Amino acid sequence: MDVPRHGVGLQFNPELMGWFPFFEEPLDVLEVLFDSVMGPLDGPALVAPRSVELVQQISGTIPLIGHSNYGGDFGFDDLADTTAVRRHVPLARSLDVSWVSNHCFYSDASWSDVWSSPLQFSAAEAIRAAGRARTLQDLYGVPFAHENAAYYRVCPGSEMPEEDFLAQLIELSGTYLHLDLHNVYANEQNHAVNGYSAQRFLDTIPLDRVICVHMAGGRWIDGQYHDLHDTRVPEAVWDLLDEVLSRASPRAVILEYETQALHCDGETLDTGRTTEMIQADLERGRKAWDRAYGPGNRYSTAKGVL
Ligand SMILES: [Fe+2]
Repeated sequence: MDVPRHGVGLQFNPELMGWFPFFEEPLDVLEVLFDSVMGPLDGPALVAPRSVELVQQISGTIPLIGHSNYGGDFGFDDLADTTAVRRHVPLARSLDVSWVSNHCFYSDASWSDVWSSPLQFSAAEAIRAAGRARTLQDLYGVPFAHENAAYYRVCPGSEMPEEDFLAQLIELSGTYLHLDLHNVYANEQNHAVNGYSAQRFLDTIPLDRVICVHMAGGRWIDGQYHDLHDTRVPEAVWDLLDEVLSRASPRAVILEYETQALHCDGETLDTGRTTEMIQADLERGRKAWDRAYGPGNRYSTAKGVL
């Protein structure tokens, strides 16, 4: 598929609404969380009434990409009954997104129990998930990419590392990868003793299928590193980005934050300083992109050429 190259953008996260100056930033792309703007399944609206104005604000103004966390994409319900098919597919079409990404999680109509429930990394699950992924990509009509998970425990029955599973899944489905570098970093913090290696991960996944990169931060709590998206992006994750930009050709780098108050050096910041820190991360992302691909190769610097 022909996929446009956008540049560096931000996740349009509801937790940032009302205080982060999205529309004053030179963003190249916005990532819309379908779950946060969609209407409930038992109602008639595709877009939730509270989100109608927001959606109108962003439509047609900047390239959009879609992200599905709780679509039930890789769960066990009939695909036709899932949130992905009933809400995310028509949303993707109505917002004219360049591509859609999802999490490699199990999920169903219950949102609270599915976070960090990685797929079983097995040959049988690669075949099953690939069938659903292929069908969903056909329905979306745009590239469909799968995000590597940050997980605390490996799903029982797993028989291979996550990176081998993702490589098999992509080969079988013809879909794409959405590479979350902070999830790779977090997994290395938590699972290095079990052999997880960021380098092996990057050397094993098909880098030519990486369509988008996520960058985020997190922190240690009680001896476990958490993917909380509530700090600046760690140095080691920036290093991974430089490597990926030099070896792959992602069409966007998206920064993720999920809080009004980032944690920094043991301190909780106010929204003003949080804004400055997010803006500094965005600028650093743009510099990394421009270093790899040259100036003028992002949506906001290409003057409509891209
Ligand atoms: Fe992510």
